[in-house]
Amino acid sequence: MLKNRSIVSIDDVSQPELEDIFKTADEMSDHLKQGKPLKILDGRIMATFFFEPSTRTRLSFESAMNRLGGSVISVSEARSSSVAKGETLADTVRMAESYSDVIVIRHPMEGAAKLAARFSSKPIINAGDGSGQHPTQTIMDLYTIRKELGNINGKTVTMVGDLRYGRTVHSLLLALSNYDVEVNLISPEILKIPEYIISRLPKNFKVNVSADFDSAVEQSDVLYVTRIQKERFTDQNEYLSVIGSYSVTPETLEKMKEKSIIMHPLPRIDEIAPEVDLSPKAAYFKQASNGVPVRMALVSMILG
Ligand code: CP
Repeated sequence: MLKNRSIVSIDDVSQPELEDIFKTADEMSDHLKQGKPLKILDGRIMATFFFEPSTRTRLSFESAMNRLGGSVISVSEARSSSVAKGETLADTVRMAESYSDVIVIRHPMEGAAKLAARFSSKPIINAGDGSGQHPTQTIMDLYTIRKELGNINGKTVTMVGDLRYGRTVHSLLLALSNYDVEVNLISPEILKIPEYIISRLPKNFKVNVSADFDSAVEQSDVLYVTRIQKERFTDQNEYLSVIGSYSVTPETLEKMKEKSIIMHPLPRIDEIAPEVDLSPKAAYFKQASNGVPVRMALVSMILG
């Protein structure tokens, strides 16, 4: 179903397709545990363009492709490609499609992946477009909730931090609106979720904008924490006014439900104290590890 398709937005993946990805990711995870080589993408090439910094997304896509028997060619920063000479994204993509079978792109401009998909006959995967979306992160976030809590339906999810520029939150909120969940949104006033995201949610979707942190923590099955992203602010005084607004500490853990988890797309700065890492509730490193089987599933399905 996903064969030869671009994934630019989370809307590009239907509910049945998500279920297929989760099932295939479970199979990939079993293969990884057994150390069995998978040569299903032998001879296929992935091109990765990361015009913004990345650790998890880039390495997990590249690891996934290598583990599937394929290979990777990559540009890790704009200044090492002809973009530095003024080449357009459209021309860059036109070249990459002749060198590879699938193109993964991270770009600081919202809408960059959509633009790239217009100029490419090969599938484009959005690995994060500015403050837009991060659809493959969302797929692994949903996979993690399902794996850690058994189900997504019936859960209360609280998102905390930078909801304005946070692309992971934008795509996760849109994806969650297809499930029977309740969502609390907590942020400083200047980092509230954009109206264009709220306006896309179904009318009957239970979302509490400006929820109270302490009571939301007590109700939540999932506490989804995000970093306040210094690099998105044009006014550094605005950034200084909101850093350290929310912090998850061992005291926060005591208020949480017994069977609840803390997630974070990472990297984190100071919004989750290192002592929290030892708690069984800390699911963020497992969440990042799930990037490999989930991206193996996605890439293998796109490349057929
Ligand atoms: N979650 C995420 O996108 O991490 P990176 O920026 O390290 O890729």
